[in-house]
Amino acid sequence: RGPQALNQDLAGRHVVISAGGTREPLDPVRYLGNRSSGKQGYALARTAVARGARVTLVAAHTDALADPAGADVVHVGTAVQLREAVLKAAADADVVVMAAAVADFRPARYTEGKIKKKDDQEPAPVGLVRNPDVLAEISADRPAPGQVVVGFAAETDDVLVNGRSKLARKGCDLLVVNEVGDRKAFGTEGNEAVVLGTDGTETAVPFGPKEDLADTVWDLVVGRLA
Ligand code: CTP
Ligand code: CA
Repeated sequence: RGPQALNQDLAGRHVVISAGGTREPLDPVRYLGNRSSGKQGYALARTAVARGARVTLVAAHTDALADPAGADVVHVGTAVQLREAVLKAAADADVVVMAAAVADFRPARYTEGKIKKKDDQEPAPVGLVRNPDVLAEISADRPAPGQVVVGFAAETDDVLVNGRSKLARKGCDLLVVNEVGDRKAFGTEGNEAVVLGTDGTETAVPFGPKEDLADTVWDLVVGRLA
């Protein structure tokens, strides 16, 4: 890679990155999930290692991806497990980046045996309960002093307006906003985004490799580290 490979501006820093998508089980063989591939989070991990950081990657269902060299990888399944792993790693972290697609809801009940259909009955509705909001919780509590917290948001409409209000609602320092579309975001090799800062800044990153967006995020993070 280019000049960033020589850049050690994250040396001595512990960064925690969540990646992938959580799955919320209904029974032993079924789950509610989402389309996150984990590729952007893995690009963040690789670029942070290259810039000298100690990296903890909390990976939710990224089985198609190889663990990035030089990162500590914690594999998790559900949103509740992801929260536990992120909070544990965040205790001494300088930076937390929530790139994972965390399920907003989980089934209210888990059925121990496989759910069977019955010829004479319509299916029971799936009841849902809220999952904890990990990004909002970390942003409010800041487990370590001076910690920089970054969120991600995929939006289909009114991208910047929704992004601004989400940044305020979550309480993080930076929000990377993706417009979800054909070539963009989920499962693709490239990404295009706008990074919104609490200081009112908007940093547009043109379509390119997910590493380019990752390096822009680290540039903005480094500017905020004391
Ligand atoms: N996030 C989280 N915990 C959740 C849901 C989301 O930590 N239970 C984090 C994601 O990792 C991401 C950010 O919050 O960094 C924004 O996720 P998003 O789904 O866009 O935000 P929501 O507040 O869930 O809003 P929406 O209703 O648009 O899904
Ligand atoms: Ca959500």
